[in-house]
Amino acid sequence: MEQIKEIFQKEHDEQRQGEATMIESPIANDHARKLYIESYGCAMNFADSEVVAAIMLEMGFQTTADHKEADVIFVNTCSIRENAEQRIRKRLTDFRSQKITKPGTIVGVLGCMAERLKAKFMEEEKLVDLVIGPDAYRDLPVLLSQIDGGQKAINVLLSREETYADITPIRLNTNGVNAFVSIMRGCDNMCSFCVVPFTRGRERSRSANSIINEVTELFESGYREVVLLGQNVDSYKWVNESTNEVVNFAKLLAMVAQVNPLIRVRFSTSHPKDITDEVLQTIADHANICNSIHLPVQSGSTSVLDRMNRNYSREWYLNRIDAIRRIIPGCAISTDIITGFCGETDEEFNDTLSMMHYVKFNYAYQFSYSERPGTPAAKKMKDDIDEQTKARRLDQVIALQRGHSLEKLKEFVGQIHEVLIEGFSKKSTNDFAGKNDQNAVVVFPADNRFKKGDYVKVLIETCTSATLIGKIINE
Ligand code: SAH
Ligand code: SF4
Ligand code: F3S
Repeated sequence: MEQIKEIFQKEHDEQRQGEATMIESPIANDHARKLYIESYGCAMNFADSEVVAAIMLEMGFQTTADHKEADVIFVNTCSIRENAEQRIRKRLTDFRSQKITKPGTIVGVLGCMAERLKAKFMEEEKLVDLVIGPDAYRDLPVLLSQIDGGQKAINVLLSREETYADITPIRLNTNGVNAFVSIMRGCDNMCSFCVVPFTRGRERSRSANSIINEVTELFESGYREVVLLGQNVDSYKWVNESTNEVVNFAKLLAMVAQVNPLIRVRFSTSHPKDITDEVLQTIADHANICNSIHLPVQSGSTSVLDRMNRNYSREWYLNRIDAIRRIIPGCAISTDIITGFCGETDEEFNDTLSMMHYVKFNYAYQFSYSERPGTPAAKKMKDDIDEQTKARRLDQVIALQRGHSLEKLKEFVGQIHEVLIEGFSKKSTNDFAGKNDQNAVVVFPADNRFKKGDYVKVLIETCTSATLIGKIINE
């Protein structure tokens, strides 16, 4: 079981972990310094790497997919769980050896681990030249010139305003169809287990105008799906100073959907305490806002949710699920679950299982609790559930979810779904792969009348545990 869990976790991590790709530089320059970026963690970190690539391109760097030929190696890091940090430290040892075989290589640590550990990171990982937090990327030119001058460099200042609104990200590892668009930064929620408020600072929303401009440019360059990103998208709020109009998340969703009916709109992450019926109605009213909501529950027990400081009860969460089912029939719902949080009793854990039975999530990311230094839970509560119990409960959650995921996929079999083609399937260029409205992966025989970025009607004929399989039925 341990192995299955590891494989699942690996798939999950790989899904989120990308690597740098070559990007077209406006002027091909063989002498340009080369940058390699590797990213870990959530979609927001991946989106940040694209902002970093834009800043570096401005400085004359070209990106490379091969760290061995890089002059500068950046690792954009995640602190969310201890094992995420351990993986990154292991990876840094590879890059350290490159500093020895290729002297002059600069290694920089970006993102949440840089923010969490600050200067300590340099003491612990001696061969790191640069430590830079998520709000300091504009300072890269100054910091790199310090390093070129023989010093080490650090900037981990968090900001209350920075949204990088004016920087057009350089899309890394892109299929030219889907793109992340960051709509806000930071988080003010203070869930007791979570390190994010400490690594990403206060919540702030990016101007709606700059979001609409970015989405319009993406559409014009052929992109057909955007994922709007924030730690709590439902608390998006921006005031247009010239009109005094307040743009909340529902309004923003509608504005993005209106850029063009051919662009699909997804978003992540919604917070159960803040998702409103207005947001749900906006999804229902726009055909191009996808019927798929990621609504992390964390636990099905009100007493655990209280200790987690999530600010909602089991009943509240169930009420939101019922509202989704009522307002957007057929909407897919996915979630995040933590097992073995401080003091979790068998009874409380059973509340999570019964919640899963009630909702039947289409998909879930599941984790065992990992205490993060400095968080409210680490300060005030005991991490008193032994690792064995955490793992056993996690196994139970994974097994139950696996059954539910399959059951939900089976419901699609026999139906016709509109699928946005994202490219060839991973396994074969004889097949296309894409997603349906509900975010499920669909694989079907390629057809030369169509190309990636096109919408096709697919009859779903069968499914595996994670994929729908069908055929195009367009005339
Ligand atoms: N902003 C989102 C999620 C951010 S982090 C939200 O509010 O839901 C992604 C997921 O990582 C969380 O939903 C949670 O399930 C998990 N997570 C966060 N901190 C964790 C910790 N200390 N141990 C285990 N899992 C954690
Ligand atoms: Fe962390 Fe909670 Fe903020 Fe999500 S909402 S990032 S779990 S503090
Ligand atoms: Fe990780 Fe930071 Fe995202 S801790 S999950 S990369 S906000």
